[in-house]
Amino acid sequence: MLNIVKKTISELKAELDYRRAIANHAKSLPELEQRDRRILNQLKTEGVCVTSLENLGLNSTSNLLKVAKSQLSRMEPPKNSHTGQRLPQIYTMTELPEYSTWATETRLMNIIENYIGLPVAFHGVHLRKDFPNENQFGTLLWHKDAEDRRIIKIFVYLSDVEEHHGPFEYVPLSLTSRYNLNYYRIQYELWRSGYLGFTDETLNKIVPKSAWKSCPGPAGTVIFVDTKCVLHHGTLRTEERSALFFVYTANPPKRPELCTQYWDDTFAKPDRLIQTTSS
Ligand SMILES: [Fe+2]
Repeated sequence: MLNIVKKTISELKAELDYRRAIANHAKSLPELEQRDRRILNQLKTEGVCVTSLENLGLNSTSNLLKVAKSQLSRMEPPKNSHTGQRLPQIYTMTELPEYSTWATETRLMNIIENYIGLPVAFHGVHLRKDFPNENQFGTLLWHKDAEDRRIIKIFVYLSDVEEHHGPFEYVPLSLTSRYNLNYYRIQYELWRSGYLGFTDETLNKIVPKSAWKSCPGPAGTVIFVDTKCVLHHGTLRTEERSALFFVYTANPPKRPELCTQYWDDTFAKPDRLIQTTSS
């Protein structure tokens, strides 16, 4: 009992410290250009903003695409899973300058700092291929990420993504805010699943499918999303999808142990990718 009280007090103190840090940092937030303020405003109201590499117009985009496409072409075909579940292929590209330069472009960092409200940490980037599956598991289930109180992930499609490629899909923030009963029903279902996520069938009973927002788009589509606040998943697909996933939180994040996967050896790195394919 004493331990529960101590834990509750410590969590309350951490929340107060967090609120205080946000208030203190408010006057230090960087100025945004009008076009970037639009992205920020949409993140705040919708939890998601869809744009494109072309619209962003960042100087380092051509280098990023050149390297990503070359590495994508050298990824190994996946091994068949005994469970019938085809897992995504994930490579950690964080150390390569073509990726980190794009990820830390001042305009991107400024948008994210304004959204998170605190100094930002860029944790890393995964090059990822997702494959056809018949049943929902892993990130195909509806879920929320847990690394921090606010997280920004930037997804960049490297191939055209139509319905059959399994686009990113989400429920708009306005339908799941804390002032809405849906928020508590969703949190209950997440808790019941051990925070692993739940199926389309379960969500359809809380928020009808007609209100879910799918994000198909051509190669070069860029999706900014707060994956902590927004309920999201990858749609079941019948054809593979290739994308980059960039990850940002406040510095330091609430759960740093969940952020190491974006730079450590959890997933293969490019040197191993090259060695494997050249042997
Ligand atoms: Fe996620």
